[in-house]
Amino acid sequence: MATDSMVPALAVEGLSKNYGAVQAVRGVDLEVFAGEIVGLVGDNGSGKSTLVRCVAGSQKPDEGTIRINGILQTDSNPHKVRLTGLEVVHQDLSLVDTLDIAANFFLGREKCIEIPGVSPFGFLDYGYMKKFTNQALADLGVNIGSIDRPVGFLSGGQRQMVAVARAITWGESIIILDEPAASLGVEQTKLVLDLVRRLADRNRAVVFISHNMQHVMGVTNRIVVLRLGRKVGDLRTRDTSAREIVELITGSDLGNPV
Ligand SMILES: Nc1ncnc2c1ncn2[C@@H]1O[C@H](COP(=O)(O)OP(=O)(O)O)[C@@H](O)[C@H]1O
Ligand SMILES: [Mg+2]
Repeated sequence: MATDSMVPALAVEGLSKNYGAVQAVRGVDLEVFAGEIVGLVGDNGSGKSTLVRCVAGSQKPDEGTIRINGILQTDSNPHKVRLTGLEVVHQDLSLVDTLDIAANFFLGREKCIEIPGVSPFGFLDYGYMKKFTNQALADLGVNIGSIDRPVGFLSGGQRQMVAVARAITWGESIIILDEPAASLGVEQTKLVLDLVRRLADRNRAVVFISHNMQHVMGVTNRIVVLRLGRKVGDLRTRDTSAREIVELITGSDLGNPV
């Protein structure tokens, strides 16, 4: 683990978020350092995605603070957060079905052809965007065929790979993956897990959300457990077991194995 800096890449403190009467997240602290892969686990409805949406700036927390590389985030919004080098693969993937893969890759950061006197009202530089996207996918070992197809024509697994590749390409500091292997086949899952490990080697801070204990145990350095919106566990992966994590998730003691 490359934690030469004492400042966490991501530091969440006392974060709470209610939806009406539902207390989705209750006073959660979370620190992730550069080079670290932290698993965020919990049953359905335990608050994982809500926490992620608050960090990503798409939901406003009711209480608590979020620091990215030491900088307090105020009046946060998704655009501002992305400029800090934080990228999220949301559970819903946030892709636009009618746009092709390259356009989705550059969503919100479209590249224009610079025309003196006309910029910033230039034309979209599709040639550049396509070339860049093709190269980025090839570098990551992601093979999804022609990038000219609208994303709506892709399979669930291919869409997931586009979202993961996009986040990995732009997330220079922190990458949060909310169920990144949910609709993937065996080969694609292997690739995503491998990419996640490589991200940590490149000193990114990674938050990895998954229901698959094998993936969580295999890829993370630390595991944070949420139950009913509260943090109930924060353990180094090498000091725990899938069994202990499942007990924390469900709040039940599974007893001694016979
Ligand atoms: N937009 C929303 N409006 C109302 N309730 C929500 C909304 N999003 C999530 N919730 C509720 O907040 C709780 C936490 O949900 P969520 O963060 O999606 O959990 P997880 O990702 O761990 O499954 C759940 O009770 C869920 O029903
Ligand atoms: Mg979720």
